[in-house]
Amino acid sequence: MTPQLLKHALLAATALWAGTAQATSTTSKRTCNSYKIPITASSSNLVWALPPFNNNFEVVGFVDAIAARTGAGSSALFQPAPQTVSVNYTIAATFCQPARGQPAAHKDTVLIATHGLAYDGSYWDPPIDRQKYSFVDYAISQGYSIFYYDRLGTGDSSRVSGYVAQLNNQVAVLAELTKLVRAGKYVGSLGKPPKAVVYVGHSFGSTISIQAVANDVTAADGLVLTGYTLNSDVLNGQGTAEISALRIASTLNSHRWSQLDSGYVTQVDVYANVGAFFAAPDYDPAVATFAQQTRSPMGIVELVTSQVPVRPVGYKGPTLLISGQKDFIMCKSDCDGGVLNVTAADVFSTAKAFKAVSYPLAGHGINLHLNAVGAFKEITDFLSTNGL
Ligand SMILES: *[C@@H]1O[C@H](CO)[C@@H](O)[C@H](O)[C@H]1NC(C)=O
Ligand SMILES: *[C@@H]1O[C@H](CO)[C@@H](O)[C@H](O)[C@H]1NC(C)=O
Repeated sequence: MTPQLLKHALLAATALWAGTAQATSTTSKRTCNSYKIPITASSSNLVWALPPFNNNFEVVGFVDAIAARTGAGSSALFQPAPQTVSVNYTIAATFCQPARGQPAAHKDTVLIATHGLAYDGSYWDPPIDRQKYSFVDYAISQGYSIFYYDRLGTGDSSRVSGYVAQLNNQVAVLAELTKLVRAGKYVGSLGKPPKAVVYVGHSFGSTISIQAVANDVTAADGLVLTGYTLNSDVLNGQGTAEISALRIASTLNSHRWSQLDSGYVTQVDVYANVGAFFAAPDYDPAVATFAQQTRSPMGIVELVTSQVPVRPVGYKGPTLLISGQKDFIMCKSDCDGGVLNVTAADVFSTAKAFKAVSYPLAGHGINLHLNAVGAFKEITDFLSTNGL
């Protein structure tokens, strides 16, 4: 991508996400509806027990402490008792389905996609070379419908403190959105309850999806976990926290991130982003630059709850686990040798089908690698083979 193209894409990204509620956009291939969805989400939240960060020295000190050989122990980070809350939020979401006249064999299956840390919903449909990087476009081309959204605290969804946003309230949001989609709401011209719902997650979005299924095994009829592992032996949480060189977002850009409190942190530069999310030489540096320039800060409690070991019991839906072969975060840059099967194959032994894929020539941010389309194909092939 040339600098000119990059500038164009950034402008397009800004325009897209400033879009008004309930806008409809149609191309020859797809019809999309954007919504601002009011929800009430109830969750039992961990309560941050430490003082808020005053500066970046404190952030670096905190990261060193949680990355310590012995670990800081998460109990010290939170009050002993969680807090049950019920809160109203607005969630920005988009539903897309094949345009009239296009192949639509699976349009009654709705993929509900949840993005990970450092992104917003546009992870699934980045306004760059969509033929290479848009999972939304690929899923549509295979006849699926897809519902994707900005997680709480990102994009056009409600802001919450970076000391409050966490796994549990993000799971509650997904559960509420799922109820609405299953009731046939916010699904554009599908206009009725879908036949099936499949959760598709990336990274923290995979943790949210698997936790939602652990809470309610009927929540999703199928599960696709991308950029994920259940194998704690190869997970690289500490290395990731360090390489990401996190700084308080508002100290990096006080204008853009003025509404975010000091609990929101983000990668200091593109190299910190690349270290965790991209694997050389299988990405375009201009795309990594785009990812960095359009990134969303992550809440510190999201970060520390992003990799909790979630294990649904008795889940029956077909489940695909797919991570880049060179995923630094999930496998310390090597997902081969069966490591993705460890624990996952047992946890999903009741599933109608389970498959773990170490996807060649990609790192953690699998959708933004040069051969992302092959990973998209793995996903839709798996779903259609298994009747979804
Ligand atoms: C949350 O939304 C519900 C339903 O619209 C409304 O009845 C309630 O008053 C709202 N609560 C708050 C705290 O705004
Ligand atoms: C998981 O195990 C299956 C069967 O034992 C194997 O075919 C597959 O390649 C493994 N997946 C990974 C990612 O190692």
